[in-house]
Formats: sequence, C-alpha cells, structure tokens
Amino acid sequence: MSVAAIIVAAGSGSRAGGAVPKQFAPIAGLPMVAHSWRAFAAHPAVDEVVVVVASGQEKRARDACGPVRLATGGATRRESVANGLAAISAERVLVHDAARPFVPAAVIDRVLAALDRAAGVTPALPLADTLVRGDATLGEMVRRDGLWRVQTPQGFDAAVLRRAHAAWDAAEEATDDAQMVRRLGEVVALVQGDPVLEKVTNPADFAAAEARAGWEWRSATGFDVHRLEAGEELWLGGVLIPHDRGLSGHSDADVALHALTDALLGTIAAGDIGTHFPPSDMQWKGAASHQFLTHAAGLIAERGGRIAFVDLTLICEAPKIGPHRAAMQARIAALLDLSPDRVSIKATTTERLGFTGRGEGIACQASATVRLPGAWT
Ligand code: CTP
Ligand code: MG
Repeated sequence: MSVAAIIVAAGSGSRAGGAVPKQFAPIAGLPMVAHSWRAFAAHPAVDEVVVVVASGQEKRARDACGPVRLATGGATRRESVANGLAAISAERVLVHDAARPFVPAAVIDRVLAALDRAAGVTPALPLADTLVRGDATLGEMVRRDGLWRVQTPQGFDAAVLRRAHAAWDAAEEATDDAQMVRRLGEVVALVQGDPVLEKVTNPADFAAAEARAGWEWRSATGFDVHRLEAGEELWLGGVLIPHDRGLSGHSDADVALHALTDALLGTIAAGDIGTHFPPSDMQWKGAASHQFLTHAAGLIAERGGRIAFVDLTLICEAPKIGPHRAAMQARIAALLDLSPDRVSIKATTTERLGFTGRGEGIACQASATVRLPGAWT
C-alpha cells in the first residue's frame, strides 16, 4: 500500500522563542525540519512526503530541505494536518511533528506494520517517573501503569483520517490525530516509541535534543599519483612551489588536494573525485584543484557534518616539503574552514625506490575524519 508522510511545520514555536520558528532553527548541524524530512524521504516504504509550512515560510523550508513538496499551514495543528491531507494521494499516511527532529527508521517500520491490524497507530513511551497530583504541596500518587507519553509519527488509513478531520467539531482543540481517529470509534494501536523522538518545545530542549542526536564519527582515506614533467607548474597542497618540473594531469594535478578530496568524499561514501569531476569533461582541463576540495567539503556540510581532522603524507624525493609545510597547512585550513592544528602535512621519501624514488612522479595519501549527525538512526 502506498504511504505518504505529512510533516507539520507551520507552528510559530512561541514557547521555544528564538529568532526563527523552532522548526527552522539549527540543530545537530541542520535546520530542525530537515532531519525528519530526510528520515521520511530516505525510508523505502514512504512514497511521498509533504511538509506543511506557514504562508511566507516556503523559501525557508526549501533552503532547509531542498526540493520538497509544500502545503500551507493553518491556524492550528489540526488545520495544518488537514491541509497536508488535501495534498497527498497515498492510501496510508504518517503524520509527524517537525518539532521531533530525529525519527528512527525502526519506529516508522513499527507504525506501518501495526497499520495492518488497526486504522490508526501511535508510537508511545511508558512513563518512568512517579506521578502525583498537587499544586504547591504533594498530593495523591497517580498509578503510572497504563499511562503513556504519546509521540509521532502517527500512522493512519488515509480515508479514516480524512473522515476524522471532516467529523471534528472546529470549536474543540484536538491534541493530536490519534485522538481524532479514536473519537470516530476506530481502534488506535500503541507501538513502542523512542526517547530520541522527544519534542522540542521550550528553549532548554534544544541542548537536550543536540545531545540526543549524537555524532557518528567516520574516517576514510584517499590516494593519488601524478607524473612529474618538465614545463609544468608544481602545485602541491594548494601552493605553487618553485621546482624544475611540475605535475601533469587533466587539472592542475595537485596530487595532495586530490588525495584529500577522495578522503573527504570517502567519509560520506560519495564516490571519488572522478565521479564528481570526470576527466572526460573539458571544463576541468587545467582546473584549480581547490574547487574539488571545497566541493567535497560542501557535500559534508550539506549533510550537517563537520570535518574534525585531515592528515596528508606526500611521497617524493624532491622537492623538500618541509619549507612549504606551513603554507600548505594554512591554505588547506583556509579552504576547509578549519584551524591549522586540524591539518597535518607529512612527507617521506621511498629511499630512491620505485617511481617516486626515481623522481618520475609524486604520490600522496590522505585521511580525513568527520563527524556526521545521526547516531540515533
Ligand atoms: N504546527 C503546525 N501548525 C500550527 C501549529 C503547530 O503545523 N498551526 C506544528 C508545529 O510546527 C510542530 C507541531 O505542529 O511541528 C507540534 O506543535 P508545537 O510543538 O506546539 O509547535 P508550535 O505550535 O510551533 O509551538 P508553540 O505551541 O510553542 O507555539
Ligand atoms: Mg503549539
């Protein structure tokens, strides 16, 4: 059965405060709404995703999520969901709060699986704390067994959810869609939620969400070789080095930046330099290699990632790298927007052995370490 996801992101975020509505505020490296949008867009069972935003917030939503289908929000969450429902055609629908940025695929799976036996499903978590009534003083304890904290994404048979919205008395405020479907007399199943789905409501919740997000650390390597030839410029690590010969290749042949670009692309499994800048493409002839490096860094930034450290080993007999190390370090640090102590430049000879030993070419190996948001997935 086809599945649509509606992400409601049309609230004003009044309790959270801040310069922009909370769903567009940065969290774990991305605007908040981008996290849930990515989770649904990437889920194999989800066929269409609609993000509901307040009128006037369309550009903000596109900047956050990229090409995304939008619907216009209403005055209440219920109206925003209804407008999202009008924009989708799937048989099943998942309704999710943009204010819950981190959506584990396993929760989507559980919700969809339970839709085989109920018209509505909501993830929920049992309460852990002792509950009491009271105002200024402690009152009676409330038994917590049988009490749940309700989360989203909530899943529904789309026709049933449409009926629930049509039947709802606009004078009454609906807390969520699951309540509305239950009011129709339909069964709403509970499945296990996830603490990472907690909603961001108040200012203090941002730091807690950031901590829940966690970081996934990744490292990858790159390697490259170019031939040394007379009559070429020698670009190494983004620096022009005076030498009797230079590296030849399709671009400026900066072997160090090429190896480093491949290492960075490796951390996000995004292929290699040739995937992005095919040597057959004439526009890269003689190109300055810093473009390749900043492109790779941009792809990491798009994923909310941050580069932690890069390390290069140049392999050649000549030129001596030592005198140029600081310049390369500064240049690469500037290109990657890193402090120089996060850029390591090393060099070695191969004791006159092999092609590097004979001075026929220069080799470089690189490694990069990055952190990406998404340890919760
Ligand atoms: N929402 C919506 N349209 C509305 C109101 C809320 O799409 N008219 C969305 C919010 O953007 C949020 C979700 O519903 O993703 C849950 O609402 P809530 O956490 O209450 O967010 P806000 O209403 O934005 O915050 P506040 O109540 O503090 O103003
Ligand atoms: Mg609200």
